[in-house]
Amino acid sequence: MASRADLAGLTWRAEDGAVRRTRGGDMGTGTSTKTIEWLGDAVRLIDQTQLPRKLVYKETHDYRDIAESIRRLEVRGAPAIGVAAAMGIALAALEHQALGLSRFRTEVASAAEFLDSTRPTAVNLGWAVARMLEVLRDPAVGDSGEVVRRLIAEALAIYEEDRELSRRIGEHGASLIDDGDGVLTHCNAGGLATAEYGTALAVIFAAVEQGKKIRVFVDETRPLLQGARLTAWEFQQKGIDVTLLCDSAAASAMARGWVTKVVVGADRIARNGDVANKIGTFPLALAAWEHGVPFYVAAPSSTLDGSLESGAQIPIEERDGSEVTDIQGVRVAPPGVSVYNPAFDITPSRLVTAIVTDAGVFRAPYEETLFRGRWGLEA
Ligand code: MRU
Repeated sequence: MASRADLAGLTWRAEDGAVRRTRGGDMGTGTSTKTIEWLGDAVRLIDQTQLPRKLVYKETHDYRDIAESIRRLEVRGAPAIGVAAAMGIALAALEHQALGLSRFRTEVASAAEFLDSTRPTAVNLGWAVARMLEVLRDPAVGDSGEVVRRLIAEALAIYEEDRELSRRIGEHGASLIDDGDGVLTHCNAGGLATAEYGTALAVIFAAVEQGKKIRVFVDETRPLLQGARLTAWEFQQKGIDVTLLCDSAAASAMARGWVTKVVVGADRIARNGDVANKIGTFPLALAAWEHGVPFYVAAPSSTLDGSLESGAQIPIEERDGSEVTDIQGVRVAPPGVSVYNPAFDITPSRLVTAIVTDAGVFRAPYEETLFRGRWGLEA
């Protein structure tokens, strides 16, 4: 049983069992890391807000902490927040396991709703919550104990499936990358954004593993610098050279002929192939279009949302203005300035060359190719 401490409601435990915030190795030492992990009665995740300066793990038995971690982007990236929410629901089930079945179901469903409300754009979150709710509501189960066991098993299945989907995305996507390519990515769609390996980064990792000689570029990704902090770190951990550039330098790198392919992840893909991804993806796609550079999107099938006709229906999260007025806790803008801080944008499908999923590489018209046979669409 994990030792517990109540630090503002959070449980922290060091590797040696002492109660405090857990800390991994120094950065750049190749420390083996798991983005998120189920520990039997607790969840441990990397606090990504602290990377790459410190590798710090957060460990908790409380689903409310998981919700907070998702909100604060301690765990982030569409597939990873789906996994985190599923594990959070499993924690809620453990917390309420002594209740009778009806009360138990009500409490766990309310925890699920709370977790689902943390971030609106990535559909993986709602997708994972819906899977867990289906298990919770299965009329065939006898008692709360049985539901708890099945909910834990479902959360672990979501985790394991995500690892497998990432590998398959890498295999399919690597075929799009050629020797000599300069590949640019935006934000972080790597192992930190998934259970393991990644989506857009899986494509690049797999191409490198196949021996292709490529040059990798990453946008810093304002305002929260996921590219500079997380993606650059992930490439370094794997010993892959990466060139970091300001978001606004991407078009110039294309004009010089350095960038020959763009690969990004996605938070939600609508039926017509419109893609929601980190803010700055749309201008990148426009620049790629102008320079004739192929623009690829890599995502697991859990990121597809065939219930939405187009990207116009995708809810876009707007975050606190301090993320723009301040950089790493230091105020850079004058007091009183108004801020517009959308966390995501929509790239119209006409700018997307192909979408890579665990099932293969798909091209427009996406409703026919990618969504056929799903969401009630004809097979
Ligand atoms: O706000 P974030 O860091 O959660 O945004 C993440 C992204 O936009 C990723 O590109 C996307 O989730 C794909 S992750 C495989």
